[in-house]
Amino acid sequence: MSPGPSANRASPPDETLRPLRRVRQIREFTDESITEEELAAIADAARWSGSSANEQPWRFILIRVAGTLLRLAEAGSPQTRSLRTASAAIAIAVPDEKDRAVSRAYDEGRAAERILIAASFLGLGGGIAWIRSDARDAPREILGLPPDWLVRTIVALGHPSESARRPKSKPGEGRRPRQETVFEERWPKS
Ligand SMILES: Cc1cc2nc3c(=O)[nH]c(=O)nc-3n(C[C@H](O)[C@H](O)[C@H](O)COP(=O)(O)O)c2cc1C
Repeated sequence: MSPGPSANRASPPDETLRPLRRVRQIREFTDESITEEELAAIADAARWSGSSANEQPWRFILIRVAGTLLRLAEAGSPQTRSLRTASAAIAIAVPDEKDRAVSRAYDEGRAAERILIAASFLGLGGGIAWIRSDARDAPREILGLPPDWLVRTIVALGHPSESARRPKSKPGEGRRPRQETVFEERWPKS
């Protein structure tokens, strides 16, 4: 099914949106490479994300060199373990500004989610590797960031391994139940 506005309107909404629900965190990849074309298309999807006042505060660093992926995996371990087997990654750099921190993080999150969705639509997988604040110096040096920029999110990309494709939870247990998270009109009375 081709997702997006041209999707078949005859399908139930739930069915049309199923590809979005299938976007999950992938932490292990096969040896198969992702192509330059795939990586470029994913980066384009990311840079078309909306951002506060259309400032597009991000810069996307595409990483394909195995040694760099491994160094980044080591630098932020264990949160960055998905980079160990990744075939590529996209580091999202944003300006390190105290007074815009929430706005920058919001924009970064939107771009990160689009990268995951774009990878999934291409039959690939993606995983967020979050660089803890106490572990940011090494990635900064590895990626050659200017001092007033930071990288907090690196999205690992590749072909999901068999085990990464397997469900991580029992059916219906992957998310909190709908009635616990989605309210009608107002916060429910207890
Ligand atoms: C802000 C944020 C930070 C995350 N950091 C990491 C991380 O450092 N390492 C990791 O493996 N997964 C990380 N994740 C992925 C979450 O663990 C994952 O989205 C969650 O467990 C749900 O997984 P699922 O979508 O596969 O069900 C992060 C997700 C978000 C939104």
